[in-house]
Amino acid sequence: MAKQKTSTPLRIGIVGAGIGQAHIRGYKQVPEVEIAAICDLNEERARHVAHDNELAQAQIFADHRAMLDQVELDAVSVCVPNVAHRPIAVDCLNAGKHVLCEKPLAINAREAQKIADAASKNKLKCMVAQVNRFRADSIFLKQCIQNGDLGNIYYAHTGWLRKRGIPGYGGWFTTKELSGGGPLIDIGVHLLDIAWWLCGCPQPVSVMGVTYAEFGPRGKGVGGWGTSTPEGTFNVEDLAVGLIRFANGLTINLEVSWAINNERERQWCQLFGNEGGCEWGENTVLNHEVNNIPTISKPDLPKRDPWQGEMQHFANAILNNTTPDPDATQGVTMMKMLDAIYKSAETKREVVIK
Ligand SMILES: NC(=O)c1ccc[n+]([C@@H]2O[C@H](COP(=O)([O-])OP(=O)(O)OC[C@H]3O[C@@H](n4cnc5c(N)ncnc54)[C@H](O)[C@@H]3O)[C@@H](O)[C@H]2O)c1
Repeated sequence: MAKQKTSTPLRIGIVGAGIGQAHIRGYKQVPEVEIAAICDLNEERARHVAHDNELAQAQIFADHRAMLDQVELDAVSVCVPNVAHRPIAVDCLNAGKHVLCEKPLAINAREAQKIADAASKNKLKCMVAQVNRFRADSIFLKQCIQNGDLGNIYYAHTGWLRKRGIPGYGGWFTTKELSGGGPLIDIGVHLLDIAWWLCGCPQPVSVMGVTYAEFGPRGKGVGGWGTSTPEGTFNVEDLAVGLIRFANGLTINLEVSWAINNERERQWCQLFGNEGGCEWGENTVLNHEVNNIPTISKPDLPKRDPWQGEMQHFANAILNNTTPDPDATQGVTMMKMLDAIYKSAETKREVVIK
């Protein structure tokens, strides 16, 4: 079990050198940390990333267990394909390291719970990397909501419709056993999380969901990234829709696609309260009443790097012994909502979340 660490720098290991590079960018802006190791199955990739980021001091590994054995670390960023989150995060927690795990926390709620249990057993921090919570628009709107500007929020409409954005065929993203699902678990988790968090993370109670696979199985709709083998596996959805009811009366309507015949790609989150509404995203606005007159207010937002904000928050949680936002418990609840959308789509029935 790790001891509470209050001295700096915190020594960080990165496992997975894809989006792990964005974690490095964030950590490099946090004075209280240093990157001590980079690990990737593709050791060459890890070496290149260390070189490109001027991290000559970082030790390079191909196996996270060797990294845990050989380097003194305080915390690890887990940035590997979804199926590997649980085994690697649990190994790190059992080795006494705090964990920042990429979204989604795991491929399903059962696996996510094992990570949460390991964090709690070892009394360590486990944060889920929901980077959108650290954007300037998110922070602004959260403050407005906490000030009561929207009153009681009873409905949210959120989603991300990519027009042609399947991340290749035959890679881990389109293989259910490796990813846990398609756009819902990949990008839907970002938009559902932002709506849920802005609304105060109420308890979900039931879910209706539908999924479709209209592009992938025909070899259509591929985007410009990810591995691509035309005959590769595609056994996930390319469109998912969910309607989630919460214990406090809130309903969230979520739509997410990797490919759809829409005019353009669109990402949005709209919240509707009895005193005001708001829109998150490139066109952040508050829709409220000033002197009883419906008014649209557009804030002047500061520039922020959300990756820096995320890594600073993680470091602060370790150093100040506070609960990270989101912690693994929230990560498990998120996975229960995603699991329920898939289950409802499969059974064509409403699914109750216990
Ligand atoms: N927060 C975000 O905006 C965001 C963006 C992209 C991806 N992600 C998440 O990050 C994770 C990784 O996605 P990605 O796009 O970087 O994938 P990727 O396939 O581009 O990169 C993953 C890297 O992990 C390495 N890897 C795989 N298994 C490993 C293991 N057992 N040990 C060490 N290294 C291993 C691979 O060699 C590869 O270099 C996923 O969970 C994904 O959902 C988050």
